[in-house]
Order: sequence, then structure tokens, then C-alpha cells
Amino acid sequence: MQTAPACKAMVSKMKIYKLLFSPTGGTAKVADILANALGTESETIDLSEVSFEGCKLDREGVAVIAMPSFGGRAPKTAIDRLRMVQADGMKAVVAAVYGNREQEDTLIEMADTAKECGFEVIAGIAAVAEHSIAHQYAAGRPDQRDAEQLISFAEMILKKLKDDSAAAPNIPGNRPYKKAGPGMVPKASAACVSCGLCAAKCPVGAIDKSDPKKTDKNTCINCMRCVSVCPKKARTVSPLMVKAVGAALKKACSQRKENQLFD
Ligand SMILES: Cc1cc2nc3c(=O)[nH]c(=O)nc-3n(C[C@H](O)[C@H](O)[C@H](O)COP(=O)(O)O)c2cc1C
Ligand code: SF4
Ligand code: SF4
Repeated sequence: MQTAPACKAMVSKMKIYKLLFSPTGGTAKVADILANALGTESETIDLSEVSFEGCKLDREGVAVIAMPSFGGRAPKTAIDRLRMVQADGMKAVVAAVYGNREQEDTLIEMADTAKECGFEVIAGIAAVAEHSIAHQYAAGRPDQRDAEQLISFAEMILKKLKDDSAAAPNIPGNRPYKKAGPGMVPKASAACVSCGLCAAKCPVGAIDKSDPKKTDKNTCINCMRCVSVCPKKARTVSPLMVKAVGAALKKACSQRKENQLFD
């Protein structure tokens, strides 16, 4: 267990701790916008590192805990790693980032877990970013309009902090949480040059480092990071499957959804 040295920051400086799980970068963009609007400086605690061993945070500063929605749930790996953080009453904003379908029980699962870790959850945000499988949905988001919305949410949260309002946010979602569904495991094609980048970046070590063409399908969490980082575009999920997912999501995803604040 390591103690993050910067956990000793002064509250007055509003240091932000980004506890981040962002396989393909959309969640990170949302977290960056929020952190920049909320604080003067920020530190990232990367929950996607396979070597993450947990950390201790004291009360000073504010946490932005950000994860994507996978099938309406928080990714199990992200939740398991968040559980390794000890927060001694630090205030936290939870942000569930989804691909314009729904976040369903993601935010409530994140908020419940954050409270178990000792955070005081002061607000929840459901934010939209490009769908990391069906990229035609929410393409290019978060965009300028999202950034403006998220900044206005941060301003409302700052006011809540300034007023020292103790009102607990009304986070949407159901308990028990919905059942997590099956996912798609990407494969390497003949274009793979065995550079090893995907294996190094996989959040769960599912790709064989000595032979990146081999993936442990039982370990893979279907997060799509390997697809997004491959410089040769050699890692893909079946185009037929992606097409089917795109068609299945068409009705739910085609109309723009706006970001929401729960405070
Ligand atoms: C396995 C998987 C499941 C997903 N499930 C949902 C979902 O239920 N609802 C939704 O709106 N988006 C869903 N998405 C899209 C992601 O939530 C969205 O693209 C998010 O921004 C990805 O975060 P990242 O870019 O930080 O990886 C899913 C993506 C993946 C890879
Ligand atoms: S990143 Fe791409 S090219 Fe490199 S090992 Fe992985 S699949 Fe092969
Ligand atoms: S192998 Fe699976 S878990 Fe690893 S980066 Fe690729 S999709 Fe994510």
C-alpha cells in the first residue's frame, strides 16, 4: 500500500485527485475538463494500471472518480481497484461516462463503492463520450457544448463546497445493480508486428507479452484499449459483430443525450 505523497495538499488550493479508469481516453477527457474547472492542480491515480496497489488519501483536496459505463455497470476491474483506495472522508465527485445509450447503474455502483472506501460523495455526473465500440455514436464527444456543460456543473459543485452544504446527492440507479453482460474479445490480425504495446497497456494483462497474438479471453474485460492503442490497426473485434452492435444501438443512441448533474 503506497501513500500518495501529494495527499498532503492544502484544501485551500483545491487539489484534485483524479481516480481514473479510462481504457480508450473518453473518460479521461471528461475527468480533465472537470478537474481543470474544479481545482488549481490535479494528480492522476490511474486505476487502469495492472500494477495498481492502492493508496491512502486524507481529507484534503477533492477526488474526481471517473469510469466508463460497460453494459450499464462500472467495469469490475475499476471497482475492485477503487476498493483498494482508503479515503479518510475526502469529498468526491463521481462521474460515469457513457456512449450515448445509458449509464443505468454505473453511477450508483461507483457512488456506493466510493462511500465504502471512505469518500464523502458530494455529486454525481453522467457524461457522454464517443462510444468506444460503435464509434458513430457520440462521435467526437465530449465536444465544446459538453465542455461548457461540465464546467457549469463544476461551478455548481464549487458553490456547494463553498457553502459547505451537507446535502447528499440523489444518485440515480437500481440496487441490486443490473447483471453485467458478455463482451467482445479483440484479436490480432496478420498486420500485427508484435511490438507489444497492446500487451503493455492492457489494464488486466490479458495479452501475452511474449506473443501478443495470444489473448486470454477469460481475463479480457472487453475494454477496447488494445484496439485503440495499436499503431498498425491490427487489433480488432469482428467487423460483423461491430456492425450488429451498431444496428442494435441505433434507436437508443442516435439522438444526442445531454450530460447530467446530480447534486
Ligand atoms: C464493453 C463496453 C460496454 C459498453 N457499454 C455501454 C453502455 O452500456 N452504455 C453506453 O452508453 N455506452 C457503453 N459503452 C461505451 C463507453 O461507455 C464509452 O464509449 C466510454 O466513453 C468509454 O470510455 P473510455 O473512452 O474512457 O474507454 C461501452 C463500451 C464498451 C467497451
Ligand atoms: S499493438 Fe498492434 S502491432 Fe503491436 S503487438 Fe499489439 S496488435 Fe501487434
Ligand atoms: S485484451 Fe481485452 S482487456 Fe486487454 S486491452 Fe484488449 S479489450 Fe481490454
